[in-house]
Amino acid sequence: MSAAIAVDDLLFSWPSGSQVLSRCSLEIAQGEFCMLLGANGSGKSTLLRILAGLLQSQSGRVSIDGSVGFVFQNPDHQLVMPTVGADVAFGLVAEKLPFLQARERVSESLAAVNLAHLQRRPIYALSGGQKQRVAIAGAIARRCNILLFDEPTALLDLESQLDLVKQVQQLVQNRGLTALWVTHRLIELDYCDRAFLLDQGRVIDQGDPQRLKQQISSLAYQ
Ligand SMILES: Nc1ncnc2c1ncn2[C@@H]1O[C@H](COP(=O)(O)OP(=O)(O)OP(=O)(O)O)[C@@H](O)[C@H]1O
Ligand SMILES: [Mg+2]
Repeated sequence: MSAAIAVDDLLFSWPSGSQVLSRCSLEIAQGEFCMLLGANGSGKSTLLRILAGLLQSQSGRVSIDGSVGFVFQNPDHQLVMPTVGADVAFGLVAEKLPFLQARERVSESLAAVNLAHLQRRPIYALSGGQKQRVAIAGAIARRCNILLFDEPTALLDLESQLDLVKQVQQLVQNRGLTALWVTHRLIELDYCDRAFLLDQGRVIDQGDPQRLKQQISSLAYQ
């Protein structure tokens, strides 16, 4: 299977001189749901921003085969319109679709995240988990096939957290999407195909999520 995301030997430092990523490499196949773990400051958000084209590395190679959608930790940072339907439609403005086609895209994308019934709901009247699903619907409407999630469940309670991760697992399976999901919450590893452990800007372990889960739990108790 071909790689949707390939990162080879990345190096990234801030202008202040602090080095964040060094010799960072990973590969994610099309259709995989992968998670990225690592201590605070290990470089997870920086790596995601490089993958999304928001930052540029000083050296190394990044190859992205698809269009990228980004879901942030705090949905209030990315939902910009007053209602659910308007927010998803807003992302389509640049595509200049005919009205009926845009309306169809919005409905279909909201249905994909089980929010069809909330199309007219004001954003302020949504729960945190529903807001995250609106952000995902926006990416689906724009036909993004690579989704990057930066701690999307950090502000959610356990039930909404598990609802969201299961929803993304299903979307990846049903629509052949590729997803990279940053988290600190080990329970979420139960829903992904593969996981990466980042330490001081480098992938130091990768593979079976259950093995990584055990390893990280045992490290935490040392
Ligand atoms: N705009 C910035 N300017 C300078 N340094 C920064 C900036 N943003 C982040 N850093 C530094 O880069 C390093 C990596 O940050 P990053 O946000 O990628 O970590 P992270 O793994 O996502 O951590 P967390 O788990 O806390 O979200 C940290 O040392 C951080 O202080
Ligand atoms: Mg981060």
